[in-house]
Amino acid sequence: MAQDHLTKINVRIPGGRDYNIYVGYDVLSRTGEYIRASGLKGSIFLITSPTIGGYYLKPLMAGLNNGGFKDIHTHLVPDGERHKSNASLQKALSEIIRFSREGEKKVFIVNMGGGVIGDLGGFVASVYKRGISYVQVPTTLLAFVDCGIGGKTGINYKSIKNCVGAFHQPRLVYADLSLLKTLNKREMRSGLAEVIKYGVIKSPSLFDFIEDHLDRIFSLDKKVMERIAVESYRIKADYVQKDEFDTKGIRAELNYGHTIGHAIESASKYAYRHGEAVSIGMACVNDLAVHLGMLKKNTAARIENLLIRSGLPVKIKNRNLDEIMDFFWRDKKFINGKNRFIVATDIGKIKIVEDIPLSAITNVIKKRFLNDS
Ligand SMILES: NC(=O)c1ccc[n+]([C@@H]2O[C@H](COP(=O)([O-])OP(=O)(O)OC[C@H]3O[C@@H](n4cnc5c(N)ncnc54)[C@H](O)[C@@H]3O)[C@@H](O)[C@H]2O)c1
Repeated sequence: MAQDHLTKINVRIPGGRDYNIYVGYDVLSRTGEYIRASGLKGSIFLITSPTIGGYYLKPLMAGLNNGGFKDIHTHLVPDGERHKSNASLQKALSEIIRFSREGEKKVFIVNMGGGVIGDLGGFVASVYKRGISYVQVPTTLLAFVDCGIGGKTGINYKSIKNCVGAFHQPRLVYADLSLLKTLNKREMRSGLAEVIKYGVIKSPSLFDFIEDHLDRIFSLDKKVMERIAVESYRIKADYVQKDEFDTKGIRAELNYGHTIGHAIESASKYAYRHGEAVSIGMACVNDLAVHLGMLKKNTAARIENLLIRSGLPVKIKNRNLDEIMDFFWRDKKFINGKNRFIVATDIGKIKIVEDIPLSAITNVIKKRFLNDS
């Protein structure tokens, strides 16, 4: 292998399923080399969208060819959450079956895209022949720091988000941060919300770093981006290693800001990007923590200030409380109807709090309605 200038993060998963995340800048030309070094062989079923493919299909193909991969079939999935669907799954399955000549060829999947492509392609890999290997090549900040790793794959069923899915870890995550140069600012901000979340739940130094380097994040400064991506990967990898199947209550800590955030996202019919809703969710749960005497007012204000400086919303445009609460109670993670929140008690410290009085929850949500504060 040529001289290494990519950062390697190893994700330790029991049963010989360890994998590496490689993070670099302008490294698409070496994708095939790293895939080959990971032990993968055979033909490639490459899943991407027309938009992402329009930018990066050619250089990715060249990078795969450089590693000796010549038999590659490209499968395009249109952009948008509504295509993370059963119809897209069926299309991809019938095409991969055809491409593999009904199973004769050894095929693995490469997903190049954001969370939609990654979740769908990962799920195709998990069900085809009871599980084949796949590689994630993330292209949105959210996919870099969150969805690209951890093995949660799936599709939406009608309007129910992520309702059908499986845990299936990738064989490799190949993260070329230079791909973010074509991503629009709104998507960048949405991904940044998750990075801020990592800072709040686990890493005061990451939080400080984002506060000090916001301009350089948005100008995609190579060193700054590598630092935040690598630290985010280390934090997420640690959670995945400790609680792969999200059953021990450890991985649940990643849901800080998501409990109310998901309800707001669903009630808005996805008018909010995921990170935008999580940003509002973080502001709401901080209000709750202040109300419960668990978080200092000035720490909550510091977090809120960073969200605002990042261009993220902290107020709710959809003022329909009933609708938000309806989605809130559908949260599949509530146990015996008891609500459960991940609450920040300081930057870098969290607690799990259960059974918060409903009136306190609805009050903080109402106070966040736009024009109501
Ligand atoms: N599996 C997990 O652990 C996990 C975690 C969080 C979110 N998710 C899922 O991720 C999905 C959201 O993912 P997302 O925010 O990445 O959105 P996305 O995949 O819908 O991508 C957003 C848009 O950006 C465009 N795009 C992507 N990369 C680009 C690039 N480099 N340049 C220009 N345009 C680009 C896409 O074409 C698309 O229109 C949701 O379905 C969510 O459920 C999964």
